[in-house]
Amino acid sequence: MGCLLFLLLWALLQAWGSAEVPQRLFPFRCLQISSFANSNWTRTDGLAWLGELQTHSWSNDSDTIRSLKPWSQGTFSDQQWEALQRVFRVYRSSFTRDVKEFAKMLRLSLKPKAWLSRGPSPGPGRLQLVCHVSGFYPKPVWVKWMRGEQEQQGTQRGDILPNADETWYLRATLEVAAGEAAGLSCRVKHSSLEGQDIVLYWGGSHISVGLIALAVLACLLFLLALIVGFTFRFKRQSSYQGIL
Ligand SMILES: *[C@@H]1O[C@H](CO)[C@@H](O)[C@H](O)[C@H]1NC(C)=O
Ligand SMILES: *[C@@H]1O[C@H](CO)[C@@H](O)[C@H](O)[C@H]1NC(C)=O
Repeated sequence: MGCLLFLLLWALLQAWGSAEVPQRLFPFRCLQISSFANSNWTRTDGLAWLGELQTHSWSNDSDTIRSLKPWSQGTFSDQQWEALQRVFRVYRSSFTRDVKEFAKMLRLSLKPKAWLSRGPSPGPGRLQLVCHVSGFYPKPVWVKWMRGEQEQQGTQRGDILPNADETWYLRATLEVAAGEAAGLSCRVKHSSLEGQDIVLYWGGSHISVGLIALAVLACLLFLLALIVGFTFRFKRQSSYQGIL
């Protein structure tokens, strides 16, 4: 915008001569309107006035600046005018490119975290499974309780609530008979995950606790074996030394 203003001012001062017009009262104004609706759709239009009179317009659909008055071209020769328009075309396309680049850097995307919990029991022998999804941005998100690839129609989706840090929170619940909870999973789809859905299995945490316990036990056994083996070997060595 600053560049456009400067160039137009320069151009018009050239055309009309700066001597007659005190610069601080120079009544030339121009307006640039640029819209960036999404990554595909952008347009830039321009308008210019000298005092109350609109002198030029520049549509996004055109490569040329439209002169609205017979004198809008000032004392420019056609060649000079064409050169000026070329400068503006370069300005327009680099302005558009730079803003798009900037917008890309601003496009924020935060991955959701998900965890499961048990809700208040809805009745004897029944469970409420709760899938919490939090910390995601932007807002659109897909959360369903699943059995294998089968979406569970009983999934109750809560409202999407704001977190304090401008991210979003959502919970999805499912009521099931206690015996049917095994094998259910919560699946989360979000733009930030780029197709790598989050899948959490009900009871998965128990399995992993069991696995950790098993791993710790295995480690302990290995250590024990190492100590026993080492002591045994050391004893044998010292006895050989005794013989020698
Ligand atoms: C942009 O254009 C591509 C292909 O022309 C289309 O698939 C995509 O949906 C468009 N994006 C938006 C945000 O409109
Ligand atoms: C605006 O002009 C640019 C460059 O000529 C073009 O790519 C774009 O599609 C135009 N926008 C609209 C909305 O027509």
